[in-house]
Amino acid sequence: MSATHSQREKMYRAYCEYFDTAEKKRRWNPFNDVAWEKMNTALNTEEDAVCLETFCGVELYVPDYTSNAFKMTRDLFGAAWFEASWGYEESKHALVYREYLIRSGLRTEEQYNAFEDHIFGKIWQLPFKTRRQMNCYGALQESATYLIYATQRDKAKENGNELLQQIYFLVSRDEAAHRGFYQKILQFELHEDPEGAMEDLAHVVFNFYMPGIGLIPEYDERLKISGVGVTPQYFLQHGVFPLLKALGTSRAELIKAYRRKQNREAAKPTEELPAAKPSLEAAQLAA
Ligand SMILES: [Fe+2]
Ligand SMILES: [Fe+2]
Repeated sequence: MSATHSQREKMYRAYCEYFDTAEKKRRWNPFNDVAWEKMNTALNTEEDAVCLETFCGVELYVPDYTSNAFKMTRDLFGAAWFEASWGYEESKHALVYREYLIRSGLRTEEQYNAFEDHIFGKIWQLPFKTRRQMNCYGALQESATYLIYATQRDKAKENGNELLQQIYFLVSRDEAAHRGFYQKILQFELHEDPEGAMEDLAHVVFNFYMPGIGLIPEYDERLKISGVGVTPQYFLQHGVFPLLKALGTSRAELIKAYRRKQNREAAKPTEELPAAKPSLEAAQLAA
């Protein structure tokens, strides 16, 4: 379904605002704006390496993320141009993590290349089918990513690792901006079609999983390392509930929308199930 004139206009303005702020306040160069001279290899641990390598792996799927996003948004200027800016910013995240892994000696070039081969040997697939659902997914996924990196930033500060703290600060600030953009678009969608957008949000919340699942080697094992992920409870408290509040809605409304959609679809053939077990269960959200 093509976008209305008012949707186009709102998306365009939202993108211009996003781009302008990014240009003025948030641009950074992984080579020149990062204090590499502060590298202190004595502070690095294998736990840091697993975290960085896993995050780098998720960020490395930029070609799959952007090619899918462009196919979905190419007829809507604000949305497509956002995906271009977004892809550029995400590409720097993989770059800075890669540089840290190699410069620190936490991984050799050979080890990194073998890891990258694993990553590019798999293809990321769109977890949801429509642009609106992918907006919901974007708001949640960026929020989870922000929380993970912000936790790492604070941990690096505690450990006195100024370089890593700076890197996680720069990357998490980008993720917060991404979350903000998707949240704003979701607000437009809720205004245009309150019931339909709420059902999509509920569908995505209850079927949400992080992009690394099924793609990053030994992802489940990696999740046992402190800081690689956040628990579902932490994500609900610090990601999902604040998003609902910012959108002016509630858990009760979300569950109502979820049940309404389920009831309506009960008679229809079952929808395709997500590729992995969702991170969130209805019971957790209702708790
Ligand atoms: Fe990122
Ligand atoms: Fe992001």
